[in-house]
Amino acid sequence: MKNWKHPAIHRMRLLALFVFLVLAFSGCGTEKPEVNGISPQKMADALHAVMEADRTVYTQKVVNRLMEEEQVIEASEHWEDDKALPLPAQMFRMGAEMASEQDAGFTYALLSMWPINKQNAPKTGAEKAGLKYVADNPSENYYTEEKLGDTTYFTAVYADTAVAHACINCHNAHQDSPRTDFEIGTVMGGIVLRIPLD
Ligand code: HEC
Repeated sequence: MKNWKHPAIHRMRLLALFVFLVLAFSGCGTEKPEVNGISPQKMADALHAVMEADRTVYTQKVVNRLMEEEQVIEASEHWEDDKALPLPAQMFRMGAEMASEQDAGFTYALLSMWPINKQNAPKTGAEKAGLKYVADNPSENYYTEEKLGDTTYFTAVYADTAVAHACINCHNAHQDSPRTDFEIGTVMGGIVLRIPLD
């Protein structure tokens, strides 16, 4: 007959209980939290997915449909005076400005090597390198770190592509456009997204 009070067995049962408690409280289940949090690149990619989706939906379902297909309303730089739709780039900038007011820990902008609005030309080395990279490699993104002032940023650049006829018709015909041969699928610029690392 076994002696359950034997010290060795008692120690083994204590050990089993200890192992059980460690496993139970160490979060072995499905809700284990990310140990190191989310990486800047994952955060940038996720934010960009939302930006790109919203931008494409606005261009295809609002601007392109109402301006090109149904021809019921124009999109105009002077949308308030003209009672027209804001341009996709203006929608994008208004969103970026509103988001930056919230100090959400990132900033973003739509830039291009062939800008209609010269304010949208790349300025920093990372912007120039990134826009060139995504123009040459449309299916890839560009990631780097850059120091501006005292702050180091994770900077990501994503291709901004002509997803509707409205994009190319308007840019190719615009008097201030330095480029007039955009086609559907052409990379027309890039979204630059910055996350401070310090
Ligand atoms: C009806 C005209 C029009 C349409 C449609 C349009 N754009 Fe633009 N786009 C402009 C104008 C004008 C600007 C400059 C606006 C500003 O910065 O205030 C601009 C800005 C941009 C910029 C920033 C660089 C620059 O040229 O100043 C990019 C990139 C861009 N557009 C790409 C696109 C893409 C891609 C689409 C389709 C998804 C599109 N545009 C649709 C007129 C248009």
